[in-house]
Amino acid sequence: MIEKLIKTDGKRYIKKTFDYKGEDNFAFLKNEVFWLNYLKSKWVPELYEVGNNYIITRYYGPDLNTLRNNKFKLADDLADQTLEMYKFFKEKNVFKLNGALSNLTMNGNQLVAFDWKWARFRTDKYIDYEVISYEKWLSKIDSELVEKLKCMI
Ligand SMILES: Nc1ncnc2c1ncn2[C@@H]1O[C@H](COP(=O)(O)OP(=O)(O)O)[C@@H](O)[C@H]1O
Ligand SMILES: [Mg+2]
Repeated sequence: MIEKLIKTDGKRYIKKTFDYKGEDNFAFLKNEVFWLNYLKSKWVPELYEVGNNYIITRYYGPDLNTLRNNKFKLADDLADQTLEMYKFFKEKNVFKLNGALSNLTMNGNQLVAFDWKWARFRTDKYIDYEVISYEKWLSKIDSELVEKLKCMI
């Protein structure tokens, strides 16, 4: 469950409650918190608070899928930013696995990736899943992006 919050600091936040039916919600929460801490940078939202069954992160604006559906003009260098971001993920040895546009947002002109519950350290076993994520979702940013990302994997 997602809830938008405004804190006394005037900044916007998102509270994500882990209440997925039939899933190990505590494992999801631990994984998400691990990656947000480990990847702390311009590429991931700031983690503000962690509870037993929820996390609170910064909210910078709607996700890219929502922006696209509402015909918002996306940043001109979005494909380059995506490549640079995946370079960073490689350096950090992570496969995000779910690269849906609904899990990306913009902090001003800066691309930001959230929803880390499925992420894991890179192993050959998950290459196919990571590639599917490029083909299924990131291709919508730029058709040439898929090949570039595959070359880099
Ligand atoms: N930091 C964020 N910035 C913008 N939108 C967000 C953010 N966190 C969540 N959302 C919105 O809530 C939706 C669900 O959150 P997400 O973390 O992707 O969880 P899940 O996909 O597991 O339900 C996202 O697709 C997005 O629309
Ligand atoms: Mg999601």
